[in-house]
Amino acid sequence: MPAIEDKVSAHYTTEDLIGRIKAALVAAGANPLAPRPEDLKPVDEFHTGGIVATDDLLDQLEISSDTLVLDIGAGLGGTARHIARTRGANVTGVDLTDAFVETAQQLSKMVGMAQSTAFRRASVLDLCFTADSFDLATMFHVGMNVADKATLMAEVHRVLEPGGVFALFDVMAAAEDPALAFPLPWAESADVSFVATPEDYRAAARAAGFVQVAERARGDFALDYFAQVFRTIEAHGMPPLGIHLLMRDTAPQKLRNYVAAIESGAVAPYEMIFRKAG
Ligand SMILES: C[S@@+](CC[C@H](N)C(=O)[O-])C[C@H]1O[C@@H](n2cnc3c(N)ncnc32)[C@H](O)[C@@H]1O
Repeated sequence: MPAIEDKVSAHYTTEDLIGRIKAALVAAGANPLAPRPEDLKPVDEFHTGGIVATDDLLDQLEISSDTLVLDIGAGLGGTARHIARTRGANVTGVDLTDAFVETAQQLSKMVGMAQSTAFRRASVLDLCFTADSFDLATMFHVGMNVADKATLMAEVHRVLEPGGVFALFDVMAAAEDPALAFPLPWAESADVSFVATPEDYRAAARAAGFVQVAERARGDFALDYFAQVFRTIEAHGMPPLGIHLLMRDTAPQKLRNYVAAIESGAVAPYEMIFRKAG
């Protein structure tokens, strides 16, 4: 594995993740051996806005039980399970981080979704699939860890069928060369953070052969979302189950730095949807 991918994977690897998730499920009053998929939502959608943002992007797409879906950088597999459960599709998730792939597989088994979701270790820069394998690729909050956006776009383009769609939701630079304070949720330090401008994404997508069909900046949505999260924590304390379980003890600082970067206009999460020419 290239050195940068080792570092990214190390950033997301924390001790006994599945054990800590099970303990948090108990504390939250859920069954730790057979939770419902919705019990996992506070922890298994590791991106701005959680499941609300997931549905906001998915609602712009046509997905049915016939759609072959690839979720890139699938993390704990929450987005893949949500697509499978609510849209009826079979979803394959790939992720760089072994610990996340194993946890995604275990969580899918625990909720009885091992048939409709599958997870493998792979980098988006070297996808382990033949050309034209999927109808839809999704990617939530992954590109910030990938320097080479050109290869990212080329690989996703390769594995999509002609006419296939690539829908992504990433944190992007809202200003040129934004000054970022670390740690951030996706990077302890600048050496694994590759936040790029929307135009960097568009240009890489165009060069790969994609046509853009939609784009939306979601900075205001993100600020509203985090204001609500912080109000809830202030009123009720930190919930047992949450994405803080994935971010070590610097979780509060990471979230504060991220929100400050959105407030200052340095970054914002953006949705983009591309289509491979048919
Ligand atoms: C912030 S998490 C988002 C996880 C998931 N998409 C979600 O929203 O819950 C970023 C994920 O991207 C994965 N990742 C980073 N670089 C990657 C790469 N080159 N190829 C595949 N996955 C990658 C990390 O391992 C991590 O699971």
